[in-house]
Amino acid sequence: MADISDDIVLAKQLLDRGELVAIPTETVYGLAANGTSTEALEKIFKTKGRPVNNPLILHFKNLKSIHPFISEIHDDLERLALRFWPGPLTLLLPKSEKVVDIVTAGSSRVAVRVPSHPITLGLLNSLDYPLAAPSANPSGYISPTRPHHVKEQLGHKIQLILDGGVCTSGIESTILGWDGEEPVIYRKGVITSEEIEEVLGKVPKLNQKTKVLEAPGMLSSHYAPRTLTLAVPEIGEVLKVHQGKKIGLIMFKNSFSGKPVVDKEIVLSKEGSLKEMAQKLYAAMYELDALGLDVIIIQQAPEEGIGKAINDRLQRSSFHE
Ligand code: TXA
Ligand code: MG
Repeated sequence: MADISDDIVLAKQLLDRGELVAIPTETVYGLAANGTSTEALEKIFKTKGRPVNNPLILHFKNLKSIHPFISEIHDDLERLALRFWPGPLTLLLPKSEKVVDIVTAGSSRVAVRVPSHPITLGLLNSLDYPLAAPSANPSGYISPTRPHHVKEQLGHKIQLILDGGVCTSGIESTILGWDGEEPVIYRKGVITSEEIEEVLGKVPKLNQKTKVLEAPGMLSSHYAPRTLTLAVPEIGEVLKVHQGKKIGLIMFKNSFSGKPVVDKEIVLSKEGSLKEMAQKLYAAMYELDALGLDVIIIQQAPEEGIGKAINDRLQRSSFHE
């Protein structure tokens, strides 16, 4: 069973040996391996049950260390890096031959970011390779934002979870690429379209395709609890439909006062802060998913700022065929 500790020396030893280590980032916990070792990277796919056509993000200590892994330097790169790194922005850039095939799943672009969590930055500074790290959950399940989430889901398969406490952002990084000269958002995230527009002087397009190679995190069913989950703007009607069942409720700001009575209710932000909602949402989903409920009903966020990324995840977590 994995240990939860802040021992980055041990983390380095394991990673140098080609083993996996769960790492904290400001967004969610990642399941990390040496990003230049095909053998180590294969363990990520096996441990998560992740399809091999789903590419990985490479995490670097700074912009300079990214240069050998990309074949072209985009005009916008420096400005974006200056404004958002270290931080929750992932960029899709043309890869160099230094990037091993399994990282990009055949794409000519590699996903890169510089995370801002001090423990993981400290670890990256001690390594001479980048870390590939998807979210540290079984494929398709909720991304972990606390060390014990990782331990519950993957603890029997790995040796070490680096303890970085609670992830401050709580949902995944924004993924940005380019279509010719046009910036395109491939996954909504912590950094909003408006913030990117401020830096680039143009509104990024939103990628609508759900082709596997574009970004499987954008596939319809993802980030999903095992309990039937419904995300809705108005709670009342859905609650009536499910009356008599064991119901868990996740509310944004206000407690639900009407009938019927639910088994468990979590209010994410009494102050009505979308940042706080993002930070606490996945933890609330983990908590309710462990209770053996019949249904989890989640109130959607107002469709503004980071609320758009929250609603994107809620929509995918509540998709059932
Ligand atoms: O916040 C985050 O980004 C977290 C932390 C751990 O850094 N990582 C994360 O990784 O969310 P993952 O693997 O769960 O999601 C990464 C997404 C996937 O949907 C993947 O398909 C997409 O990024 N992606 C990775 N490389 C890509 C590439 N070369 N082209 C297109 N999409 C890519
Ligand atoms: Mg993921």
